[in-house]
Amino acid sequence: MDAKQMLHMNQGQGETSYVQNSNMQSAEQNRMKPLIEAAIVHVCSNASTLSHGKMVIADLGCSSGPNAVALVSIALEATHRHFLQLRQPPPEVCILLNDLPYNDFNTVVKDLVQLRQIKEPIVVTGVVPGSFYERLFPSGSLHLVCSSNSLNWLSKAPEDLRINQIPAYDIDEYVRRERLPVVAGAYARQFRKDFTVFLELRAKELAPEGMMVVSVPGRRCDELINEISHIWGMIAQILAIMALEGVIDKAKFESFYMPIYGPSQRELREIIQEEGSFSITEMRVHDLNSGMDSTFLTPNRVANGMRAVLEPIINQHFGSSGEVMDEFVRTAEKHLSGQGSSYVNQTESPIVWFALSLAKA
Ligand SMILES: C[S@@+](CC[C@H](N)C(=O)[O-])C[C@H]1O[C@@H](n2cnc3c(N)ncnc32)[C@H](O)[C@@H]1O
Repeated sequence: MDAKQMLHMNQGQGETSYVQNSNMQSAEQNRMKPLIEAAIVHVCSNASTLSHGKMVIADLGCSSGPNAVALVSIALEATHRHFLQLRQPPPEVCILLNDLPYNDFNTVVKDLVQLRQIKEPIVVTGVVPGSFYERLFPSGSLHLVCSSNSLNWLSKAPEDLRINQIPAYDIDEYVRRERLPVVAGAYARQFRKDFTVFLELRAKELAPEGMMVVSVPGRRCDELINEISHIWGMIAQILAIMALEGVIDKAKFESFYMPIYGPSQRELREIIQEEGSFSITEMRVHDLNSGMDSTFLTPNRVANGMRAVLEPIINQHFGSSGEVMDEFVRTAEKHLSGQGSSYVNQTESPIVWFALSLAKA
């Protein structure tokens, strides 16, 4: 099944919602601020881009809640500040938020209404449901594209693993290690394909001199040393414990392929260079939790954060319910308090964020 048919974060505003459990992603959005501000200055300094006095800013993979409008709000404020300094009237701004069709757009539109209250610059808003691995906007229409914590989601899990019945995570440690290059290679190829398509499409949709600022979670080291060095490793370890304890079906676990991948810095650079539409203005590597309040980093908070992202996709595959996800949180909490604690440890975590500023070449 394609990711677009099933993927969304936990909806609404309740205890298990993405809105209530996305502090880690929100912290990364804050770290993207200087890149977005610099991109706005670049875009706004280009006479041809702004010749019509209008600017279009899009966030791709917005989800819902405060994070959905966080990046575009930073861009709006930066635009306002820039023109205030120049003592010139700001351009009219169109803000477009994209996500997959099952996203909680009901919550998103309420937050967009707030943005429209801003009087300077004039802001019009809209939502654009659809996959960012397909065309979403007219050619040459965008000035700034932002995206946070979304490009790690693939358009689909690698089909060759499923066809050859190779589990993404073998419970048998020896088999798992033997197959690591095959599994990781299949995921890496799918990411390469998807990210290349993403760059090609956005290059068509951006105006000349347009910019993209994206942040994607990935892995600290280039090599895949073991299964925990890829982003799916931590989730798989938790589900494997649940399969061994009989909470979820073992056969179903072995046929579960999460469409998620964490690239390395080298992979990102290579793909961007090979695709050729963008040059890298800046690439920052952020520790997973740097600058975050430690109250958000308890095993319980992290486990609930994982639930908010993974519950819909896990429930769809396992046909499970809220109780299974309560057990997922308990298992994750235990795992993160012990063996898996390096994931949330700031300097040791194998997972980092890559924040990139890309200019149309
Ligand atoms: C973890 S959330 C990130 C949300 C928000 N940008 C943030 O930083 O908190 C990832 C979002 O990407 C969306 N997403 C994943 N694949 C997508 C695709 N192909 N097209 C559009 N959105 C996608 C998911 O539905 C989800 O809402």
